[in-house]
Amino acid sequence: MSKVLIDADPGTDDAVALAALLAAEAVDVVGVTTVAGNSTVENTTANARSILELFGREDVPVARGCERPLVRSLSTGESIHGPGGLRGDLPAPTGTTTDAHAVEFIREQVDAHGTDLTIACMGPLTNLAVALALDPSLPDRIGRMVAMGGAFEAAGNVTPVAEYNVYVDPAAASRVVQTAAPTLVPLDVTDQARLPASMTDEFRSAGGAGSTIAEWCSYPAEVREAGGDAIHDAAVAAHLLGDVLTLDAQPVSVVDGDGPCRGATIADTRRGTDAPTTASVATEIDVNAFRRTIGDALLSLL
Ligand code: BDR
Ligand code: CA
Repeated sequence: MSKVLIDADPGTDDAVALAALLAAEAVDVVGVTTVAGNSTVENTTANARSILELFGREDVPVARGCERPLVRSLSTGESIHGPGGLRGDLPAPTGTTTDAHAVEFIREQVDAHGTDLTIACMGPLTNLAVALALDPSLPDRIGRMVAMGGAFEAAGNVTPVAEYNVYVDPAAASRVVQTAAPTLVPLDVTDQARLPASMTDEFRSAGGAGSTIAEWCSYPAEVREAGGDAIHDAAVAAHLLGDVLTLDAQPVSVVDGDGPCRGATIADTRRGTDAPTTASVATEIDVNAFRRTIGDALLSLL
């Protein structure tokens, strides 16, 4: 069974991705590390625990992580995800978090599982960047790092060029790209990661947790009209569960400076370039396979 550590800022689409991974028999979720992003780390940590409790998975440890980006101040995404970062009115969690900080927890899990471990990143990459700074050997010792982040051919969703997770902590994203050979799952593919309304209706009519999942998938009208209603992070989950993405190794860099290009991700796709490849970039998504993979996983929970 593949071991997956989820680093996230739940977040409605993080919640859908987490639920799908919890449902999968082939995956053992070894823990959730949280980070400030869609809301404060206090809220994203409570949200992670509430989501686990909703599915009766209090056994999965939650480690609270960094409360602000490496350099910049935090800008949250509550206008998209709801007050506190998560629509769906979940009760406050009852369990506790690990004593270990998320950065230490990541390092412990790498020590424990080595190349069997996949780290699935769904928020700003702050925790991972700090872990890499403390232990540069991590990338050689783990299986995969798959991160939702970036916008290449696609327009950004925070600025014309920047995707939210990278925009919030571009210094962290730059470190991860330059040192950890991640797989990047950018807006170019995640903008297509949507479930049909008929499936959301099916979740809702199942009641209980199904109504909550339906809420996570239902964005406010103004977000939908602006095209911001994709379930981005679920594309990472679908990639781990099925063969839904096409990947291409590319020389990628992240604009870490201020100004209009802050948080842009640039792939050097010049013909004949000898720039070294730094990331595997998802360039295409099989939308039907995405819907089947995520939809079936979620329905199996209800
Ligand atoms: C990313 O930004 C967040 O708001 C989502 O949870 C997702 O991780 C999409 O740009
Ligand atoms: Ca997220």
